[in-house]
Order: sequence, then C-alpha cells, then structure tokens
Amino acid sequence: MSETKKKNGFASSIGFILAAAGSAVGLGNLWGFPYKTAKYGGAAFVFVYILCVLFIGVVALVAEVYLGRRSHANTITAYKKANKNLGWAGMLAVIIPTFIICYYSVLGGWTVRFSVNSFQSNETLSNANSFGSFISNPYTPVLFTAIFLIMAALIIMGGVKEGIEKASKVLMPALFIIVVLIAVYALCLGEGVAEGLNFYLNPDFTKLGFEGVLAAMGQAFYSLSLGMGIMIAYGSYTGEEIKIGKSAIMICVFDTLVALIAGLAIFSSIGHFNPDAFKEGSGVALQSVGLMYQTLPQVFASLGGVGKVVSFLFFAMVTIAALTSVISLLEVATQFVIQKFKIKRRKATLLLALICFIVSIPVTWSVGGAFDGAITLFGFDMLTFFDEITNTALMPVGACISCITIGWFIEKGSFKQRMNPMHTYRALEEDGLNLGATGKIFAVMVKYVTPILIMLLEVFGIIAKFGEYAPKNLNFVWVILGATLLMATGIIVYFAFFRNSYTGTNEDEFLLEKPRDKTQTLSAQNK
Ligand code: TRP
Repeated sequence: MSETKKKNGFASSIGFILAAAGSAVGLGNLWGFPYKTAKYGGAAFVFVYILCVLFIGVVALVAEVYLGRRSHANTITAYKKANKNLGWAGMLAVIIPTFIICYYSVLGGWTVRFSVNSFQSNETLSNANSFGSFISNPYTPVLFTAIFLIMAALIIMGGVKEGIEKASKVLMPALFIIVVLIAVYALCLGEGVAEGLNFYLNPDFTKLGFEGVLAAMGQAFYSLSLGMGIMIAYGSYTGEEIKIGKSAIMICVFDTLVALIAGLAIFSSIGHFNPDAFKEGSGVALQSVGLMYQTLPQVFASLGGVGKVVSFLFFAMVTIAALTSVISLLEVATQFVIQKFKIKRRKATLLLALICFIVSIPVTWSVGGAFDGAITLFGFDMLTFFDEITNTALMPVGACISCITIGWFIEKGSFKQRMNPMHTYRALEEDGLNLGATGKIFAVMVKYVTPILIMLLEVFGIIAKFGEYAPKNLNFVWVILGATLLMATGIIVYFAFFRNSYTGTNEDEFLLEKPRDKTQTLSAQNK
C-alpha cells in the first residue's frame, strides 16, 4: 500500500499481537467473564462463548484489522475508503468507546483502590462485605475513578508506540503468569475446590437461554474489543508485513485463555472460601459485578504476608491492563475529536477524559447503592445498563457492519457475481488480504455465516429478553440455529474444498479500484 511507513506503526507481528492483546485482555476477562459465567449456567455459557469466539470473534477481528490496514486511517475514514457511503458506520466507533469509558473507569478505579489497599489487615481483606461498604461510599470510588482517568490521560499523551506497545510487551506475559499462578494456588486450596469446579465446568443449560447466548456473544465482542472501531484503529498502524490471520488467532486464543484461567481461579476459591455462595442468598453475590473484587482478596488473605504482595502485584497489573484498555478507548474518541474539531491532541484527550469522568460519577453512585440506590436507568444500575447496551446492542451492530463491509463492499461486480464468496475471496486477495489456505473459509464466513449468526443471535436474544412477548416454547429457535450452523458448515466445505473453478469472465472479475498486475498470476493459480 503506501510506501511511507506510518511513524507510529507497529514494527513487528509480535509487537502488534501484544499490543492488540493488551487492548483485549482486561477487566472483560477477569471481571466480566467469571460473573457472567456464574449468571448464565457455568460451562453452558463458556461453551457458547467459545463458539462465538470461533465463528464470530476471529472473523470480525480479521475484518476489522484489515479494514484499518487497507486505509491506514481512523475508523470513519476507513469505512469511507471501503465505500464512500459508509462513513456513518464509523460513528459507532466513537459512541461505543465513549460509553464504555464511563463505566470502565469506575471499575478501573476500584482496581486501583484494591491495589493500594492490599496491605490492610487480613481480616479486612478477607471480609467479603468490605467491598460492599467501599462501593456504597459516595466519595472514595469517585476519587479512585478520577485517579484512574488521570493516569490514562497522562499516558495517552505519550503517543501510541511508547505508551501502549512498550507497556503491553512486558505487562501481558506478566499478568498472564500471575493469573496462572493464582489459579494453580486456588486449585490447590483443597476443601471445596471440587464444588467450585463443578459449578464452573458443569453446564446448566436451563440458566442459559437465548439471553445467555446473546450475553456470550456480547462478552466475546467486548472481550476482544470488537465492533467499536478499536481494532480498526490498531489495524491502521500495521503494515503489509504483519500477518493478520495468524495474529487474529493468537489474540483470540490468548484472550480466551486468560478468561478461562481467571474462571478457574475465581470458582475454585469461591468453592473453598464461600461454599455457600452456590446456594441462594449468600454473602457473595455470585452473579454481581463485584465477584472478582470479593473473592480474590480472600485468596490473598489466606496467603498471609506474601498474600499482600501478591494482591498488590495482581491488582496493580490489572490496573495497568485496564489502563491500556482505557487508553485505546480514549485514543479512538480523541482521534475523532481532533479531526472533527481541529483541536490539539492534548486538549482533546483532556476534554474527553473530563466528560467521561463527569458521567462516571452517577455510574459509581448507582452501582454502589449510595443514595439508597436511587440512581438507576430503566431499572438497571447505570454500570449494568452501559455494559448491556454496548455489549448486546451496539457492538453486534458494529461487528456486523465491519463483516458486511469486508464481505460485500470491497469487491466490484454484478450482484450475481458478488453472491459468490469465491469472488469475494479473490477480490480480497487482490486488495491485499492474504490469509493463505484459510482465505476461502474466511470469505464464506465474513460474507454469510458471521453476519447471519450475529443477526440471528441478536434477534433471538432480544425475543428471550423481553420474555413476556416471546413464544413460550423456544425450541424451534434451537432448530433454526442448528440448521443454520449446519448449512454454514456445508457452504464452507463446498466453497473452500470442492468448488475450485470460478465461472465468471476474466474482464469483470476484478473490477477493483486499483487493479494490480497480480491478477494474471492469481487466475493462473486458480487451478
Ligand atoms: N477488551 C477489554 C477487556 O476485556 C475491554 C474493552 C472493550 C476494550 N472495548 C475495548 C479495551 C476497547 C480497549 C479498547 O477488558
């Protein structure tokens, strides 16, 4: 593409993977995944989550990174460059991150607080109620949210490369190791661990339902930072030498591993320290946003003096992981503000951080139950509301649009030609997306399977959520979904492995904006 390398670009695939994983791994894995797993039937949720990552996450991730790379521009421009009528799609990429920052920084603030409070007495640490009294205080959580946002704003002014790439290179592996160690320790706690694991690894499909399936999909988007332009922005810093397909798979594997291991740690320790939690009405609210903050300190307390150090290390690293996340969220919104309003980067960053801080204040109050829980939005606490709205409504739209853009808008040609995913496959390869042997599968997925799956899960999820209006028996939905998956698999197998020849004419095969001389070689390769 462009000869001039972006000055802030990623130097290597591994640098890119680590940075993107730095954005992906965060509170979504450690805080969100376990409590949603608890809420929606343990392994049932995990199973659907993994399917969502495979069938939707990987594909959308490749689509987004590639959208960014082919344009080397911010999300709105990236969409415009794909098709001049698509600029509006980029707006989601500004709205969603802004929404997320408003509650993410509250969680970030809690994390900061737990890291500085690591050195309290063991009794305080292991008391599951101390979390409740902390978040229901009207002032301290606000203070910590402010501290968190100020740190993020300061780091972001240092630029993409220095700020993110360096931090993640050291941090991601370190965080991974500490999470693994905590999990191993928790698994060795002995009594109760088996019950914890039973809760985690025994699927309870009755608790899942389509609401849970939608939550799993939303969690996958959220955890992989998809559907909100973040990965488009990251992609825009990559060059041709970075292997998008392999990188995407690595990022998904790493992100999912961290979540699964965090689940091991959390559920084993609940089993040991709060076995009653699995019964209704216990002190530890299994399905609440506080799960991680309530359980892990108990593990640390049980370690005695060493535990305080481990606690500090863990929460400090999670803080940094959350910082890298918030930084990239702020980045996108900032880029937009700079271009739109022509103001300096510094000013734009501070302005956005300030706005998000102001919104995060009522969020803090509403989740902690300060002011007697009077602050709610449509019956939800504001944190859950923002989380739900972004994960289960906006991100699926964003991810669907990016898949559809790559699957339908890059290639030119008649509608009939464009129906054929192999036409897309060649057009994408022409355009510069080389996925090797998996290219054909990818084409079928972005074009049909993934967008259709997203839409189906969304529709069924919404039907299930607003239950009174839903048909009582949703079994037919499983039949439709199963049939779709089967058909999808059939289509993939057919196009990727059996249908070798493309029957269009050579002239109209590659009516791309910038035809390249590779055309000939490609058609020749097409045995
Ligand atoms: N993926 C992050 C996590 O798991 C959260 C997140 C969502 C995020 N969207 C993002 C991070 C955008 C960075 C950028 O915690």
